[in-house]
Amino acid sequence: MSNPCSKTNEFLEMSRKYEPGCMNWQAPVVWDHARGAEIWDVDGKSYIDWTSGVLVANVGHAHPRLAEAVGVQASRLLNPFDFPTPERLRLAQKIVESLPAHLDKVIFVTTGSEAADAALRLVKRYTNKYEIVSFWGGFHGRTFGPMSLSGIPKIRRNYGPLVPGAILVPYPYCYRCPFGKTHPECGLSCLDFIDESVRIQSSGSLAAVIVEPYQGTAGFIFPPPGFLKKLETWARKKGLVFILDEVQASYGRTGTMWALEHEGLEPDVLLLGKGIGSGVPIAAVVTRSEIISCLESGELSSTMGGNPLSCAGALAVFDIIETEGLVEKAAKNGAYLKEKLLGLAAKHAVIGDVRGLGLVMGIEFVKDRATKAPAPDVAKQVVLRCVENGLMVGKLGTHGNVMRVAPPLVITPELIDRSVSILDKVLSGL
Ligand SMILES: Cc1ncc(COP(=O)(O)O)c(C=O)c1O
Repeated sequence: MSNPCSKTNEFLEMSRKYEPGCMNWQAPVVWDHARGAEIWDVDGKSYIDWTSGVLVANVGHAHPRLAEAVGVQASRLLNPFDFPTPERLRLAQKIVESLPAHLDKVIFVTTGSEAADAALRLVKRYTNKYEIVSFWGGFHGRTFGPMSLSGIPKIRRNYGPLVPGAILVPYPYCYRCPFGKTHPECGLSCLDFIDESVRIQSSGSLAAVIVEPYQGTAGFIFPPPGFLKKLETWARKKGLVFILDEVQASYGRTGTMWALEHEGLEPDVLLLGKGIGSGVPIAAVVTRSEIISCLESGELSSTMGGNPLSCAGALAVFDIIETEGLVEKAAKNGAYLKEKLLGLAAKHAVIGDVRGLGLVMGIEFVKDRATKAPAPDVAKQVVLRCVENGLMVGKLGTHGNVMRVAPPLVITPELIDRSVSILDKVLSGL
C-alpha cells in the first residue's frame, strides 16, 4: 500500500479523479478478485474477508456454481421484462416453500431500498393509511421512502422535508439503553414507551411497523430475546402491518436460513436482499395474497426486477446453501468465532462489547469501559491496521465505533484462527 508506484495507488488516483467522495469510507485497497472467504487486491496481496462485501457474499466469493449458473443464463436470456420465465417462477416457488405458509406471494426487485420502498407503497394501498412506526438507528435504504423512516441522523439530515408519516421510536440498544436500564430486569419496558410514543404522536392513520431483526448499519445491535415477538404481538393488537426487513439478515447469516426463525416471527411483509443473490443484484418483497391483491396490474414492477440472470443466480445460491450446509456452518463457526472474540474482549480494554448471532457480529470500541465513551478513532485505526495485516474489515455504527464481523458463510475454522490472530496482534500494538 505504501509503494507509490503500486497498481493500488494508480487506481486510487483514478478514483480520486473520476469518482465523487460520497461513497462510504474504506481502507485504501483496490479489490481485484476473491474466492471463498479470501480477497486479492490489484497488487496480489491477499486478505481474509470479514465483510462479505457488505453482507452480500454469503456463499463465498466467486462460487464456481454461482458463476456457472450466471454464465449459462447470460447466453440464454437476459431480460424479458415482466413475462414469466422458468428461473423467476422456480425461484418464487423455492422462496415461498421455504418460508412460513402464510407468506405465499413474492415479487422481485433489484435492491433492498427498492424492496423497502415497494413495501411502503404496498401498505399504504392496503391500509389506506400512511403512518409507519420505525426505529432509532433503523436503516432500510437510500431511496426517499426508506430514508424517511431511518433513525440515523446522517441519513436524514439536509434532506427534508422527508416523506411524511414516520413515527420514530427507540430500538433496544441494550449496551447503551436509552432508559439506563438492564435486561432482563427491565422487563422490556421499552415496549411500553413505544406504545405511549405512538399513542401520542399518531394522527390516527397508523399503517405499519417496520423493523430489522438486528440493526446492521446502526452498529450490529441485537435486540434482547423476546423483544421482536412482543413487538409483533403489539403490532397485531394495533392492527398494524408487520414488516420485517431481513435484507441483510437472512440466507443463513444469523445461523438460521431466515432471521424470523429465532423467535417464530410471522411478518405480514418480509424484505429480502443482499445474500439472496450473493453478489448477483436481486431483492424481494414476500407477503400474503390477501395484502398484495389490493394492487392492480401494473402498479408494482420494474425493468430489472426478477430478470432471469439474477433469478438463475439466486437459484444457484439456494442450492449451494443447502448442499454445502451453510446455515449449519454459520451457526457452528459463528459460535466458534464469537467465543474467540469474547476472549479478545477479556484481554483488550478498548473492546466495550462483542455481540452477534451466527456469522454476523459487531465489536464496539470504547475509550473507557466504565463510561462507554465511543472510540471511533480507535475503530478506524484498528480497521486500517487489520487491513495492512491481511484482514479485510470495515467499521460503521451511529457512533462510527463498531467493527463489522461478517465473513462469507464458507469461512473455515482455520481462517477464523488466522484472522483472530491478526486482530489480536493489532489490538496488542495499539
Ligand atoms: C436492513 C437493510 N435494509 C435495506 C437496505 C438497502 O439495501 P440496498 O443497499 O440493496 O438498497 C440495507 C442495506 O444495507 C439494509 O441493511
